[in-house]
Amino acid sequence: MAAFQIHTATDADVTELQEYATRLFSEKLPGIYRRSAPTIEQEHEFVRSRIEPANSTLLMARAQGRVVGLLDFVGGTLPEEVHSGLFGLSVSRDHRGHGIGSALVQELLMWAPTRGISRVEVRAWVSNPRALALYERLGFEREGVLRNAVVVDGEPIDVVVLSRLLEALGG
Ligand SMILES: CC(C)(COP(=O)(O)OP(=O)(O)OC[C@H]1O[C@@H](n2cnc3c(N)ncnc32)[C@H](O)[C@@H]1OP(=O)(O)O)[C@@H](O)C(=O)NCCC(=O)NCCS
Repeated sequence: MAAFQIHTATDADVTELQEYATRLFSEKLPGIYRRSAPTIEQEHEFVRSRIEPANSTLLMARAQGRVVGLLDFVGGTLPEEVHSGLFGLSVSRDHRGHGIGSALVQELLMWAPTRGISRVEVRAWVSNPRALALYERLGFEREGVLRNAVVVDGEPIDVVVLSRLLEALGG
């Protein structure tokens, strides 16, 4: 397993991120929403929406120059919710099980307090035990279950809400 590096995405990464998203969505994974490949305009909009607000971010993992993992965090926009946000996480198929997902979440947990964020939330389908295990190992606690919150191929699936509370440093 090659070494990987984590950095914050910029506009310059849009083409590579579009290619990464296309690869990921083509897997039609059982534990995440099925999306079609984004256009370059849609990918630009996605990146912009994550890197412009001070309380949102987009963290990329690279190995041997290639994007191998992505974490996007969206902070709240209302004054009562700017301290809080929700993230999504993925690692490319060939690189799963080597600690990249954990490293991306740990990077988020170090960054969040510097932006005044004291609550980090994530949602995982019950059909995704790997993701649930990762989050609980990193100190996220289950807050509740959204019953039948998604339906895949006619089958209702519960969604677990987890969060970790942090000591905010500023913001
Ligand atoms: C979930 C995901 C992001 C994890 O990333 P990753 O880089 O593979 O995760 P890590 O290697 O850091 O950790 C995986 C951990 O899950 C656990 N795990 C692995 N396989 C598992 C399984 N079948 N069931 C339960 N737990 C499992 C292990 O404890 C492992 O920990 P270890 O590193 O100590 O062995 C990755 O599998 C992925 O991209 N999946 C598809 C997209 C997705 O489901 N995203 C999450 C949406 S909520």
